Amino acid sequence: MSKKPVILGIESSCDETAVALIRENNDGEPEILSNIVSSQVDIHKEFGGVVPELAARAHIEKIDLIAKKAFDESGVNLNDVDAVAATAGPGLIVCLSVGLNFGKALAVSLNKPFIAVNHLEGHALSPKLNSKINYPYLLLLISGGHSQFLCVEGLGQYKRLGTTIDDAAGEAFDKTAKLLGIEFPGGPQIEILAKKGDPTKFDLPKPIINKGGCNLSFAGLKTAILRITKNIKTKQEKYDLAASFQKTMEEILYQKSKVAFKEFKNINGDKKKIFVVAGGVAANKKIRESLTKLCKEENFMASFPPINLCGDNAAMIALAGLEKFKQKQFDDLSFPAKPRWQLDKDAIFLKGSGLKY
Ligand code: KG4
Ligand code: ZN
Repeated sequence: MSKKPVILGIESSCDETAVALIRENNDGEPEILSNIVSSQVDIHKEFGGVVPELAARAHIEKIDLIAKKAFDESGVNLNDVDAVAATAGPGLIVCLSVGLNFGKALAVSLNKPFIAVNHLEGHALSPKLNSKINYPYLLLLISGGHSQFLCVEGLGQYKRLGTTIDDAAGEAFDKTAKLLGIEFPGGPQIEILAKKGDPTKFDLPKPIINKGGCNLSFAGLKTAILRITKNIKTKQEKYDLAASFQKTMEEILYQKSKVAFKEFKNINGDKKKIFVVAGGVAANKKIRESLTKLCKEENFMASFPPINLCGDNAAMIALAGLEKFKQKQFDDLSFPAKPRWQLDKDAIFLKGSGLKY
């Protein structure tokens, strides 16, 4: 039996230092051998957000230890690696450079191919780590820095259907959490606090809900929350606001996904209807439930990565590396770190430009 490819994945685009090893199994499916993520939450907590210089330092201090741990847990060694895949963008350039250069150096020393991975492509493919999904599929990518609907036509083939014109969904969660006095990173905490509140208590805006196709907007929500928090006095009111915000996010994503379904069907017909939701915010259980319900109503198959693979990790980077490896898509060592790197290279930049519909 021929040796199945083993790919080393490295991720350092923001505040997680992560290294993973995956191997293709006999059925052609990816198998995670190890997946180590070191979060820097404690470092950035006191600043209320990620401080790039501190993040880069932490990556430098940790990356070799994390890589060693990944090998120790995987049961394979350096000589078993067939290719090294590292995130090259988008992200903070000082952070990206750490993992990217570490990956390039390893590839050179092992005399193996180097593969530069788009972090967003890692998220886009992440549900394939636990289920078989064929192209094309509709993707809702909701993370801390990005929120977009994409038609995924194949590896490296993306057509953007909609994007946020201001904040990302994760950013909306984090900013709301901050206004509610919740410690960074507040997104996941909102979901917990929301359980104690009444979601009908505050009527929050749903910006551009009936216009702009499946483009998204969350900035108006933050402004409304800022106004309300000024008058909030009790703990219960805080829970009610968290619940109302959570509910509004669910409704925005539900309604905009419905629009995206229509656009996807116009492009791909009525047969292959798969809806993949990925990125940090896809870990939100209520959002998963509401989008699963929509899929049932609209006859789409819903697919989510496991909760622990929604946030940043290197298994998804290794997976993108594996798919590229199988197509012999290798990169030069001169491949630069790219702070901006769109999946759909033809998509126009919408952020801040407003919508003219
Ligand atoms: O994908 P990710 O780990 O990093 C980026 O690529 O941005 O996403 C991080 C974002 C943060 O904004 C975080 O607050 C949000 O995902 N997030 C959540 C939940 N878990 C993480 N938002 C809502 N509910 C959650 N359970
Ligand atoms: Zn991410």
